[in-house]
Amino acid sequence: MTQPQEHRAQFATRLGVVAVTVGSAVGLGNIWRFPYEAGANGGAAFMLLNLFFVFVIGVPVMCAEFVIGRHSGTNVRSAFRRMAPVQAWGIVGYIGIAASILILSFYSVVAGWTMEYIYRSIAGFGGSTATAMHNSFDAFASGNVRPTLWTIAFLLCNYAILARGVEKGIEKVSNILMPLLFVILIAFCIHSLFMPKAREGLTFLFHPDFSKISARTVLSAMGQAFFSLSLGLGGLITYAGYFSKKTPLVKTSLLTASLDSLVAILAGVIIFPAVFTYGQEPAAGPKLVFEVLPAIFSEMSGGVVWSTLFFLLLFLASLTSTISMSEISIAWFCDDLHMTRRRATRLNIGIAMALGSLCALSFGCLGGFKIFGMTIFDFFDYVSSNVLLPVGGMLISIFAGWVLKKSLVRRELEISAGHTRRLAGALIFCMQYVAPVCILVVFLAGIGIIKL
Ligand code: TRP
Repeated sequence: MTQPQEHRAQFATRLGVVAVTVGSAVGLGNIWRFPYEAGANGGAAFMLLNLFFVFVIGVPVMCAEFVIGRHSGTNVRSAFRRMAPVQAWGIVGYIGIAASILILSFYSVVAGWTMEYIYRSIAGFGGSTATAMHNSFDAFASGNVRPTLWTIAFLLCNYAILARGVEKGIEKVSNILMPLLFVILIAFCIHSLFMPKAREGLTFLFHPDFSKISARTVLSAMGQAFFSLSLGLGGLITYAGYFSKKTPLVKTSLLTASLDSLVAILAGVIIFPAVFTYGQEPAAGPKLVFEVLPAIFSEMSGGVVWSTLFFLLLFLASLTSTISMSEISIAWFCDDLHMTRRRATRLNIGIAMALGSLCALSFGCLGGFKIFGMTIFDFFDYVSSNVLLPVGGMLISIFAGWVLKKSLVRRELEISAGHTRRLAGALIFCMQYVAPVCILVVFLAGIGIIKL
């Protein structure tokens, strides 16, 4: 049964549009991934490069997604089918849908870990040194049953929101969670700034040492920008399909990029003063948040409260991001395959539960099962983040820059934006040249075809 009425809803308010878009952008990418990437790549230098990519490539690609989504007013697959002169462009839609399910699957595993850590924050970590934390994290992640159950539990939370629909589910929850998230973040920052070695932490984060920049740093900084802004898979095409004709696209993208970067920087402001104060290693990698931070929390006064709050923050941020990933395929199931919203949601969450369980088990009993030498989790992460995301992003910006009529793109960008004529011109130039060329170079270097 088709339910166009229910499905082709629009976000009700301007604030709602910002909340859902920022909600999609702010997630594990900012609070988990950014600090460890910055920590491993020399801090401030990485941050500056990342900001460069966010505004020079991220904002134009985001505007491209907004233009495609709002103008077509439909899901990512139909958007290309309707607007493209050649049917082959429809492939971009399928790439987005497939990649979004892969990302959702491994992302939910990490989000499930945050649920275990909320529980442990309250129940006790059972140790306090970094080594003890390392051992207990390893034991947990390789334990099969618990991580799989948490992955499923997380996806059920997702289901509960998505099944309620666009306005009553996605928009309403984002309107509540996003302000809450900012309050928790600010409270944390103030707390961190009063730590004894706050200055060292902040110097690490804000004082750039450009000798630390290598080709690899450049690649990671761009990958981080894409991942963090939710670009390349049509997540924002899908959301823009629910924007009203009055939503100012350029302003919304600039605001989203700024708030997203702000949250990443604030996550750094929270984490690095603590890392230096408690004598930990800033370059600890992906385990920074799950091993180093709990060790710090267990020494801190009021650690239970701060630890619970931190993992709650991570959990809430993940939730508003995964609903945007799910919506990519749900919108397609509803519009094109004529499913009801509930059925579409069930199908999306069902697939993610199956694949997500495989990812969770790849730290345990499926650890020996390798695809191109990678575990299932690493393979999903690698294929989606390093291949499908950049390829999708490049094709989206080429599509908006070259295939769509310039007058159409201009009109969409200039609506309700007053004096943005010159800015619109610059954005279109970036969509045509800067973004595709940069992404191509980074992509080829990333998969090892060219050496930088
Ligand atoms: N931006 C989110 C984060 O930083 C992740 C995310 C949500 C995403 N939707 C996406 C990444 C779509 C790529 C594509 O955690």
